[in-house]
Amino acid sequence: MKTALVFGASGQIGLPLLDLLRDDEWRVYAVSREPQADQPGLHWLQGDFSGVRGLPNDADAMISCGPLDVFARWYAATPLRCPRVVAFGSTSIDVKRGSADADERELAARLREGERLVFETASARNAAATVLRPTLIYGAGRDRNLTRIAEVARRFGRVVLPRDARGLRQPVHVRDLADAAFRCLDAEASFGRAYALPGGETVEYREMVARVLQAMTPPPKLHEVPSPFFNALLALAHAAGYALDFNEAAVARMRSDLVFDASDAQRDFGYAPRGFRPAPGMFPLAGE
Ligand SMILES: NC(=O)c1ccc[n+]([C@@H]2O[C@H](COP(=O)([O-])OP(=O)(O)OC[C@H]3O[C@@H](n4cnc5c(N)ncnc54)[C@H](OP(=O)(O)O)[C@@H]3O)[C@@H](O)[C@H]2O)c1
Repeated sequence: MKTALVFGASGQIGLPLLDLLRDDEWRVYAVSREPQADQPGLHWLQGDFSGVRGLPNDADAMISCGPLDVFARWYAATPLRCPRVVAFGSTSIDVKRGSADADERELAARLREGERLVFETASARNAAATVLRPTLIYGAGRDRNLTRIAEVARRFGRVVLPRDARGLRQPVHVRDLADAAFRCLDAEASFGRAYALPGGETVEYREMVARVLQAMTPPPKLHEVPSPFFNALLALAHAAGYALDFNEAAVARMRSDLVFDASDAQRDFGYAPRGFRPAPGMFPLAGE
């Protein structure tokens, strides 16, 4: 029986990954900062990257579905022996590199440093590392992108977008990401490489939002307004303390194409993400 150690296992990618590992009869050690209930073949360890009690000495694979920079530092320091490492990063490594916002540039820098450290550590230990970079994640009702738009829509009965919010997006479903991590565990072609993992369909930003609204009952309205009007509304929202992290850089990005090529992932581990079809119930109310 193979053993896996999974960080971020309670997250939106981690949970479906646990299902795949269980179905393939892996013995899994999963890490969470919160207490969790064991199941057959699944043992939860409580802690964060600064200290987890009960870690095994060896594992066949280690998978990080949490923050890459924190995992990378932990990995560089742990004596745990493991020949295979798969860690999630983000396409923000490229998208936010030249952002007008200093926090976003800092995030891109942390992702770059995290990737560098994972590959450097793996190489020094004769292990094989793969980094997976998702685009915009959805599907579990726990993301901070589409689920957040759905929350605003539910609250106000409408969403307002600037008319030129037509940058291209490739939303990717959490189960396709879990599947990618699982598939590449044994895919030698993926050893030592990083992959963009976009969703299976490329849609304009406004179309992406429209599909989210259509999946809701009753469907909230979508208003497309001239950019200056949108900016004025956003300034009012900011003044009232709303949407403070929806900054200038995020508004500018609605007009930019954020498109990535999945062909390397498809070739190396059969990555086959689904099209963007938000379903009713995919965007629950917070706490539901
Ligand atoms: N969300 C997106 O749209 C998006 C886009 C591109 C890439 N990604 C990447 O995809 C991966 C998964 O994304 P996600 O949004 O599902 O992740 P997440 O919610 O940030 O983290 C997943 C889990 O990791 C654990 N975790 C979070 N911060 C931690 C910390 N500082 N120390 C220890 N454990 C921590 C949490 O589990 P416990 O609370 O149980 O400890 C959490 O449920 C991440 O690497 C993320 O950077 C996300």
